[in-house]
Amino acid sequence: MVTIKNDKEIEYMRESCRIVRETLEFVGRNIRAGMTTKEVDELVYKYITSCGAYPSELGYEGYPASSCVSVNEVVVHGIPNDRVLLDGDIVSVDITAEKNGFHGDACRTFLIGDVSEEKKRLVKITKECFFKAIEGLQAGVPLYNISNAVQTHAESNGYGVVRALTGHGIGREMHEDPAVPNYGKRGTGMRLRAGMTICIEPMINMGTWKVYQDRNDGWTIYTADGKPAAHYENTVLIKEDGVEILTL
Ligand code: MF3
Ligand code: CO
Ligand code: CO
Repeated sequence: MVTIKNDKEIEYMRESCRIVRETLEFVGRNIRAGMTTKEVDELVYKYITSCGAYPSELGYEGYPASSCVSVNEVVVHGIPNDRVLLDGDIVSVDITAEKNGFHGDACRTFLIGDVSEEKKRLVKITKECFFKAIEGLQAGVPLYNISNAVQTHAESNGYGVVRALTGHGIGREMHEDPAVPNYGKRGTGMRLRAGMTICIEPMINMGTWKVYQDRNDGWTIYTADGKPAAHYENTVLIKEDGVEILTL
C-alpha cells in the first residue's frame, strides 16, 4: 500500500532522516583503513542511539546489525564482521533510523585511502544516477522515469544495473510500496503523488549486473563476477512542484 504523509508525519520523517544524514557524516569523519566493518557498525549504533532513535535495521527480519557495510565486491547487505578495511577499498554504509514511529534510510559509498581511478569513477557515476533520477521529479511524474534515468546513466557509462533489489516507499515501515527499480521504461508506472516518501537507491556494478546471495548468512549480496559495486541512497519527499531530499 502506498502511503501519503500528512504535515505532521512529514515533520517526523524529516527528523529521522536528519539523524540518518548526521550519522553518515559522522561515519565519514571516522571511517579509515585498519578499522573492521564491525567497528563501523559500532559507530552507527552509538550515534543513532545518542539521538534518541533506533537503528531499525537491527532485528529487521532477523538482520543482526545496525548497518549494512558492504566492501568492494559486496553490493549490499554486508553484515558487519571482522573484515578489515584496506587502503583502496570502497565501502557502502547503508543505515536506517526510526524515531517517533517513522524511518529514514540512506547510503553512502566511502573511499578508503588511495582509491583507483576506475573505482572512484564508479562511485561518482552511482551518485550521479541518483541526481539524474530526481531531475524534474514531482507529483504526476511516472514512477519508472526514475528507474529509466538510473539505468540510462549507468549503462551508458558501461556499468551493470542490479535488478534483484530495488528502492522502495518508506514511512512507518522501512519498506513500503511502491518498489522503485533501477531499470525500467520511461512514461510507465504509477504517477507519483505529493506526500509520498520514497527511497531512490542506485546499486551499480562495475561489471555484470548479475549478483548472488551468500548461502550461509542469507544476507550478503555479491557481484557475480567479483568486480566492485557502489550504492547511493536518499529518502525523498515528493511535492507538487519538486522534491525534498530528506537525508541531505
Ligand atoms: N537500508 C536497506 C534499504 O535500503 C535495508 C537493509 S535491510 C537489512 O532498503 F535488514 F539488511 F538491514
Ligand atoms: Co538503505
Ligand atoms: Co532503502
